Amino acid sequence: MKLWAGRFEKATNKAVEDFHSSIRFDQRLYRQDIMGSIAHATMLGKIGILTPEDQQAIVEGLKGILADIEAGKVTFDVGAEDIHMNVEQLLTQRIGPAGGRLHTGRSRNDQVALDGRMFVKDAIQDVGAHLHSLQSALARMAREHTETIMPGYTHLQKAQPITLAFHLMAYFEMFQRDRERLQDALVRTNRMPLGSGALAGTTYPLDREMVAQALGFDEITRNALDGVSDRDFVVEFTGCCSLIMMHLSRFCEEMILWSSHEFQFVTMDDGFSTGSSIMPQKKNPDVAELIRGKTGRVYGDLAGLLAMMKSLPLAYNKDMQEDKEALFDAYDTTVGCLEIFTAMLTTCTFNKDVMRRGASGGFTNATDAADYLVKKGLPFRQAHEVIGHMVLYCVKHGCALEDLSLPQLQEFSPVIGEDFYEAIDLMRCVNDRALPGGPAQSAVLAHLAQAEALLATGIGTAEK
Ligand code: ARG
Repeated sequence: MKLWAGRFEKATNKAVEDFHSSIRFDQRLYRQDIMGSIAHATMLGKIGILTPEDQQAIVEGLKGILADIEAGKVTFDVGAEDIHMNVEQLLTQRIGPAGGRLHTGRSRNDQVALDGRMFVKDAIQDVGAHLHSLQSALARMAREHTETIMPGYTHLQKAQPITLAFHLMAYFEMFQRDRERLQDALVRTNRMPLGSGALAGTTYPLDREMVAQALGFDEITRNALDGVSDRDFVVEFTGCCSLIMMHLSRFCEEMILWSSHEFQFVTMDDGFSTGSSIMPQKKNPDVAELIRGKTGRVYGDLAGLLAMMKSLPLAYNKDMQEDKEALFDAYDTTVGCLEIFTAMLTTCTFNKDVMRRGASGGFTNATDAADYLVKKGLPFRQAHEVIGHMVLYCVKHGCALEDLSLPQLQEFSPVIGEDFYEAIDLMRCVNDRALPGGPAQSAVLAHLAQAEALLATGIGTAEK
């Protein structure tokens, strides 16, 4: 019989029962649900609403159910609708009518809000740890490539020479912001909603602080109506996941490009590539492509959540049951992608020579050539024009700036001397950009030291 069957005369239509039941997916919240119930029952015992015997029976019963679920001994009942009513039903089967006292002063509305918050808190920690591993790998790899010259691009056209370390550390920063963002979201997620009741609190003198403390929450929610209506924390977490996926996807796009025959900057490990059923020569970057593809899926989760919430009147509406699959999917997808991406990245081989050659064609040192003229006294605008003419000449003759002889160079500007060649040497171009945040080896090493300290102290990690 339904836990809410009292006011009904007819049974639920079978199709409706399947339709509105969420146990298929919300069983994943069993641990949060049971831990929340244990804290609630313990508090009810302390304030004298449950007798010590009932309280003990309930807590013991809940622990037994938890153990049984974890041992795979429990089959959930679709008729019991969701994880909350399944647990209560199992409890009553196990300990008798005392089980019916657990729900005193509580509603499934504040219960599901609690379970969701507990789940997201753990998810934040887990995603944060995965980001930390990826960042550690990036810092390790960057240490090895502070002299690996490669072309930097804008508009996907060669722009200025940089190093692979500099490029990798750009991603380090993106993932650092992602980790900080999660940490920030944790502050708002870390509020305990039990005591909100269905929407208007409860007449029982519940000790909300005690429950919050028992469950490791920093604070309690401050308005019951909001406590049961709010799913911002789910949206925010999924938003965090979306940004992580965006960063992964851009990185994947680069790996896909770089592993193409046209670029050949990187060779992916065989273990992370796949072949073609028809073309024997193929080695495809499927892992990177799939991560790029799954990014759209996580964005879909976020868009779905936002659309689901947008017109809901306060307080709880059944629409909100739809938050779970999106949340679980965004979480699973993001963690899965972070794991496999880290493994893929750390096993690939960067083809240093090709990268360096890539930086030498395409006039990536043209800005430095112009800067050379500025140092010789020309206004930058004029220097820009002189080097522009020089580039055009080289394009027409199929050569690079450094291929021109000194007399040839001097035809473009008499101030050019022998030291021009040194000034436009790629390593020099990189290492002259030594201001904080620049690509020079000295600047990247300083960034790396800072980054490694950050990883070691755990600042920005999700510790709670
Ligand atoms: N299964 C529901 C959900 O996930 C739990 C809350 C149900 N509350 C209610 N009044 N029907 O949203």
